[in-house]
Amino acid sequence: MKYFWKCYCYSFISLILLSLATLGCGSNNMEDFVDCIYVHSSNNNDSNSTLIHTPSSSSYSYVLNFSIRNLRFSEPQTPKPVAIITPSHASQVQATVICCKSHGLQIRTRSGGHDFEGRSYVANVPFVLIDLINLNSITIDVEDETAWVQSGATVGELYYKIGEKSRTLGFPAGFKATIGLGGFLSGGGIGMMVRKYGLGADNVVDAYVVDRNGRVVNRYSMGEDLFWAIRGGGGGSFGIVLAWKLRLVQVPSIVTSFALHKTWDQNAANLIYRWQYIAPWVDQDLFISAWVTASNSSKDESGRIMEASFFSLFLGNATELLSLMEKTFPELGLKKKDCLEMSWVESMAFSASGFVSAKSLELLLDRTPVDNGRYKTKSDYATEPISETALKGMWERFKDEELETVQLILIPFGGKMNEISESETPSPHRAGYPIHIGYYLTWQQPNADSRNLEWARELHDYMTPFVSKSPRAAYVNYRDLDMGTNNDDGVPTRYKEASLWGHRYFGNNFERLMEVKMKVDPFNFFRHEQSIPPAPPRVGI
Ligand SMILES: Cc1cc2nc3c(=O)[nH]c(=O)nc-3n(C[C@H](O)[C@H](O)[C@H](O)COP(=O)(O)OP(=O)(O)OC[C@H]3O[C@@H](n4cnc5c(N)ncnc54)[C@H](O)[C@@H]3O)c2cc1C
Ligand SMILES: *[C@@H]1O[C@H](CO)[C@@H](O)[C@H](O)[C@H]1NC(C)=O
Ligand SMILES: *[C@@H]1O[C@H](CO)[C@@H](O)[C@H](O)[C@H]1NC(C)=O
Ligand SMILES: *[C@@H]1O[C@H](CO)[C@@H](O)[C@H](O)[C@H]1NC(C)=O
Ligand SMILES: *[C@@H]1O[C@H](CO)[C@@H](O)[C@H](O)[C@H]1NC(C)=O
Ligand SMILES: *[C@@H]1O[C@H](CO)[C@@H](O)[C@H](O)[C@H]1NC(C)=O
Repeated sequence: MKYFWKCYCYSFISLILLSLATLGCGSNNMEDFVDCIYVHSSNNNDSNSTLIHTPSSSSYSYVLNFSIRNLRFSEPQTPKPVAIITPSHASQVQATVICCKSHGLQIRTRSGGHDFEGRSYVANVPFVLIDLINLNSITIDVEDETAWVQSGATVGELYYKIGEKSRTLGFPAGFKATIGLGGFLSGGGIGMMVRKYGLGADNVVDAYVVDRNGRVVNRYSMGEDLFWAIRGGGGGSFGIVLAWKLRLVQVPSIVTSFALHKTWDQNAANLIYRWQYIAPWVDQDLFISAWVTASNSSKDESGRIMEASFFSLFLGNATELLSLMEKTFPELGLKKKDCLEMSWVESMAFSASGFVSAKSLELLLDRTPVDNGRYKTKSDYATEPISETALKGMWERFKDEELETVQLILIPFGGKMNEISESETPSPHRAGYPIHIGYYLTWQQPNADSRNLEWARELHDYMTPFVSKSPRAAYVNYRDLDMGTNNDDGVPTRYKEASLWGHRYFGNNFERLMEVKMKVDPFNFFRHEQSIPPAPPRVGI
């Protein structure tokens, strides 16, 4: 990093300021950058130490680490930002854009830091990390049934704030409380109400964005093209979204959750297979996700433990749920004692706890992660049920004792998702994609990295015949750099390469995303390994 920074310095600054060269180019350049930020932010209330963190500040490593969720990207050799900016005011975000541009630095924007490939805080070129952790205000308007949320707020903070104001309003966001709204909404956003209300981004009605010129624009001034692109086109390509206006959704004052665990002896494999025929097609008030977890057993036992779990949210009471389950999925054997009636916000706390307890709503406000291991994730969509034989082959792989923990998470779509056209937002996988598949590998030891990464690729290859094809679809919020990347400097080597992952994340929407990018950021200032490249508008057919 230092090397790059100095390189930049010598070639540009020292030519102009020859006399300063002997004073140490790096630090002068940094001072110049810091001054630039202050000159350009209209609100200078923050002390310098809390707004700008340079590698020499005592706060630098703490701030950098705080939102790193994947320790694979927290190694000594991981490239680090030349500075971290923690704005608490829009003008400081604007200043960062202006000053990074004038100093030849790239920007990585971080909201919650959950990017599976660490793209919000790692780059192979000199970059500034703009961490929105202090831009986390949430304003709920119960009358209007809307909320303004800043990007640095987490989904848990949103749930908590809604719960404080109303028991009958909710928002369809993710399972884990620590996910940042900035990245989540930028990539679409899947949660437990996806079958009733669609993706998180489907419920965004306005936004404030800092564009490539450092201007703040809203839905009206940015225009419908950019407003379309930011609701699912993936973070880091179009600008820095400061805040989002959300349409809140109706939830009953009592909802019912359940968490059922089945061992392989309890017919788990067959239940997973059957689930595919039921969960995407039942009443849209009922959401049942299916998880399979395989790991080495605890120390006192031996062998590999494999278990299926069904985590559910029903927008109604237990009586209704039991009768619905009796009609549609009796083989799961749901009993009255399994049904947990609670308020909607409690059901979100239940989910955030890993479906263990709904007791503590405060858990929703906790930004420190439960476990901060190393992981690799991939995604798929099933367009038709996966055969029993194909599933069996997957379970055989899960038994591999070399793996610490491997998990399959199946999310049912259908319901509202079938009513939204593929071009409504950049997220195209709606009708025809009844099941979202997530594969997760987690481990602790750095020396297990290559084994796990390789295993994940092999599993993905194995699944090829059984999932969506041409293109094989993937979810952009499950970023996976195995699909291909732009060059280090963000300029795609060839359109062909960018379109490899582009079409898999966005289907036919990829072309429109590139056109919007060309319009709003033709010189590709906002970029990363899988950002949208600018392309001229299509001519003719
Ligand atoms: C433990 C865990 C659980 C998850 N659960 C779910 C789930 O239930 N449902 C689901 O859909 N996904 C889930 N995900 C995936 C998650 O939605 C994505 O990783 C999402 O992008 C994270 O948002 P973030 O703000 O935390 O991430 P960040 O890492 O901060 O950002 C992700 C990307 O968006 C960019 N970005 C961030 N903020 C902004 C902004 N304000 N403006 C422009 N670009 C921005 C970043 O530069 C980066 O490219 C989960 C991930 C993890 C690690
Ligand atoms: C600066 O902070 C003070 C005290 O917190 C506040 O009264 C004032 O309005 C702030 N100034 C600006 C420009 O925000
Ligand atoms: C921050 O630093 C700049 C120069 O580096 C200075 O002009 C400004 O007054 C400082 N602001 C505060 C609040 O200390
Ligand atoms: C940040 O994380 C790195 C790597 O995990 C570690 O070495 C360092 O001590 C951490 N810094 C702080 C302040 O926690
Ligand atoms: C459950 O909900 C149904 C439909 O709203 C209602 O008719 C019924 O009285 C409720 N039952 C209980 C036990 O609350
Ligand atoms: C799991 O247990 C087996 C058998 O005891 C052992 O060989 C293997 O190394 C363990 N795997 C991990 C990841 O710890």
